[in-house]
Amino acid sequence: MKKVITYGTFDLFHEGHYNLLKRAKALGDYLIVGITTEHYDLQRGKLNVIDPLLKRIENVKEVRLADEIIIEDHEGQKQEDIQKMNVDIFAIGSDWAGAFDYLKQYCKVVYLDRTPNISSTKIRQGKHPIVQLGIVGSGRIAPRFLKEAKYVSGINARAVYNPHEKSARDFGEKYELEYYFGEFGDFLQQVDAIYIATPHQTHYNYARIALERGKHVLCEKPLAFSVKSTEELYGLAQKMGVVLMEGIKTAYCPGFNQMMNIAKNGIIGEIRDVEACFSRITHPSLREMVDEKYGGAFLEFGSYTLLPIFKLLGCKYESVEFDSILADNGVDLYTKVHFHFREGLALSKTGVGVKSEGQLVIAGTKGYILAESPWWLTRSFEVRFEDPKRIERYSPKFLGDGLRYEIADFVAKIDGNDKMAYFLTKEESIAMAGVVEKFMESRE
Ligand code: CTP
Repeated sequence: MKKVITYGTFDLFHEGHYNLLKRAKALGDYLIVGITTEHYDLQRGKLNVIDPLLKRIENVKEVRLADEIIIEDHEGQKQEDIQKMNVDIFAIGSDWAGAFDYLKQYCKVVYLDRTPNISSTKIRQGKHPIVQLGIVGSGRIAPRFLKEAKYVSGINARAVYNPHEKSARDFGEKYELEYYFGEFGDFLQQVDAIYIATPHQTHYNYARIALERGKHVLCEKPLAFSVKSTEELYGLAQKMGVVLMEGIKTAYCPGFNQMMNIAKNGIIGEIRDVEACFSRITHPSLREMVDEKYGGAFLEFGSYTLLPIFKLLGCKYESVEFDSILADNGVDLYTKVHFHFREGLALSKTGVGVKSEGQLVIAGTKGYILAESPWWLTRSFEVRFEDPKRIERYSPKFLGDGLRYEIADFVAKIDGNDKMAYFLTKEESIAMAGVVEKFMESRE
């Protein structure tokens, strides 16, 4: 019996998939189809899959060409499957020509002609028009955003706004955007969605105006400085039927989510303490160091450190206290925020002028999780126990500088595939604004 194997995502099952399976089946007597998990697709940078795994399996089953369906969930699995299952032929579409020649040491490798003019990507785009996006602000993060947006399908960054029109023009020309504007209203007319990457104190206003005009908003952290204004923005988004997302990129990274899920699955027992630190010695000339009202360590990095605290201990704390070391101009160089929860403690440490170990430690009644710097990108973490020899290490994949996951979630939400709302909930975002509000009050 000649065994053939093929692999794919098979999202939004289409004619190209059917033809491929038919041809693969015709190569032998028994066809095995490997279908990727969501997690594996995320790891290999395929960020826009719509159908859940079970639906994709059902769709492949329905055309009755596969004799066996298996799940593909890791790099290197193809070699394992081929050897374990005594496969004779590996078949895949011609878009992969050459990419799997290394499997020739185990079996025959056949590249089958792809069906022209159809793909899951095309169907996705046909279902949802490309989101035309404008960037508000042309400072330090804007170029990074543009670079990462290229990895996400369904979105096109086409315009930039800066109140200084010349800066907008320079940026627009450098990054070959279609439009640049010095006037916010004109800018909004050309886009469906905006990414706000301006100084903190301007976020709320830009977000409010854009939401009122029915535009989707992805806003850098912090969204606003008070519970009231943050609630107002979410309320406005709901009323207008558009998406509002706070851009705390850690929240959308697969590794960070895996770590949160492991922390909550009971392996370290009940969570009793979360300590998160983020510090970066910042040049004295930069905004963070000179802007006495809106600069400083906590407003800059607090969203990162508060995120695991609220995710793990909930948004309702009993008390919060702030301790800061201030520069002569009043900017906080280093801030510790102590929380008391009913069943645990938490500490956030942020620094722009004091350097500390950028760790995240999640302590439980049976063990703890340690994630070294840069835990906010979460490329690795360890689960440790009383017995020092017992350490479980995790090294999740993290692509680029992580912004692509946030952008992919933004597009998915705009397209109505809101399956990832738990990445950063409205309640968490509002609770963070509450801490920012108290922090700012404490400094007045
Ligand atoms: N395939 C094909 N003809 C097409 C589309 C896909 O023969 N028009 C084949 C691929 O080469 C692969 C299998 O179908 O062997 C599964 O492909 P998959 O990546 O799931 O589908 P695509 O439509 O290419 O998906 P995407 O647009 O997300 O890359």
